[in-house]
Amino acid sequence: MHFSTAILAGAALLSAANAIPVASSGWGEWEGQGNGNGGGYGPGSSQPSGAPAPPPAGPPAPLKSGNPFSFPLSNGFPNLSPDELNATEIQAHGTEPNGGAPTGLAADDLTSFRLIAFNEIFEVAFFTDLLFNITTNVPGFTIDDHNTRQLVINAITAIQAQEELHADNANKILMANGADPIQPCQYKFPSATLDDALAFAKTFTDVVLGTLQDVQLHLAQNNDDGVVPVIGSVIGQEGEQTGFFRFFAGLTPSELPFLTRSSREFAFSVLNQAVVVPGTCPNENQIDLPIFLPLTVNTSPIEPKDQTLSFSVPVDKSSPPAGLSLVYINSQNVPIVEKVENAQVSNGMATFEAFFPYTENLLNGLTIAALTNSSGPFTSAEDVAKVTIAGPGLIEIM
Ligand SMILES: *[C@@H]1O[C@H](CO)[C@@H](O)[C@H](O)[C@H]1NC(C)=O
Ligand SMILES: *[C@@H]1O[C@H](CO)[C@@H](O)[C@H](O)[C@H]1NC(C)=O
Ligand SMILES: *[C@@H]1O[C@H](CO)[C@@H](O)[C@H](O)[C@H]1NC(C)=O
Repeated sequence: MHFSTAILAGAALLSAANAIPVASSGWGEWEGQGNGNGGGYGPGSSQPSGAPAPPPAGPPAPLKSGNPFSFPLSNGFPNLSPDELNATEIQAHGTEPNGGAPTGLAADDLTSFRLIAFNEIFEVAFFTDLLFNITTNVPGFTIDDHNTRQLVINAITAIQAQEELHADNANKILMANGADPIQPCQYKFPSATLDDALAFAKTFTDVVLGTLQDVQLHLAQNNDDGVVPVIGSVIGQEGEQTGFFRFFAGLTPSELPFLTRSSREFAFSVLNQAVVVPGTCPNENQIDLPIFLPLTVNTSPIEPKDQTLSFSVPVDKSSPPAGLSLVYINSQNVPIVEKVENAQVSNGMATFEAFFPYTENLLNGLTIAALTNSSGPFTSAEDVAKVTIAGPGLIEIM
């Protein structure tokens, strides 16, 4: 990722687009906070001509930082009062669905909404912390170009509030169905720079985009099809977010003709493996989904070509695991099954290799890797999840 280069290229494009107003709220609040704090944006910094007019003042975004990060936010989130909900809706540029929460949902679909709330609360944590880092010019998160910085802050401000509403809405649906709302955990973030943070946001949002496909399928199968459109509205919304993250990494905004399918099990596993501080979730035990062993993709960076990739997985035996396959899920295609080769165990970690058939399948965007105890054949991501031992390994190319 070459964020700074991309941002310079992006800045030229953005200047050209300055005639289009960039709506925002809260920007005025940050002007003071950002000044003279090590960033490139201050009274003395040059302002490109034709800079966007400052947007109208709105409620300030609830800034908070911490790694590990804990709730509540200053606005009370995850428990928003009616006034704070109103302020969050203004920051999000729109409201939560106002037609009343769907009731009578199947238990299996409540599992989906628990997972959605669990994920969206993490996303609120991440984007709240990211917004804090950018607006307070934390080293690694400074953006020199004034217009670009404003555009990024405007975008993350909207996204932060939009994720609050996604989470709040999922919890409201749970409560309308007599279920407990999902409570926040503490979260750790792996990103130390803006580059890293947006690349990570791209990856976890890609997983969400795949997982919501699975949620829609379950809703339809359980005859809760009335809820399918609202999930569709969020899939598009999260896709707009990844388009933005991709653009700032110098990538084409749209990733694949058909986005990669995921499953609820993979999303729940990776959240627990990568961002949740173990033991800090008050009621994640209500989420009836497995947490697989972590599958680490050792090869990095992964070039867009045919190659053998290296993986590792924690094991409690001294012999290499037998009868296992490595499965890749990409686009809406039939999962690809590869042999596990050269398995070795040392210090409680099994390392092995598997071929990555890039060329034949154009494995761009998100590919989900899973170590399974069956060689299939598989028809879908969920089929793979049913026999997964470790995963997901997340591979992103272009
Ligand atoms: C938010 O509050 C303002 C002021 O009370 C009110 O005019 C507006 O209708 C509210 N908006 C929403 C979305 O509730
Ligand atoms: C914000 O910056 C801190 C300090 O560098 C870092 O630990 C944290 O991961 C960053 N947050 C995000 C969301 O990248
Ligand atoms: C394969 O793994 C799945 C999921 O962990 C498990 O339910 C199943 O019993 C395993 N099958 C065999 C043959 O080990």
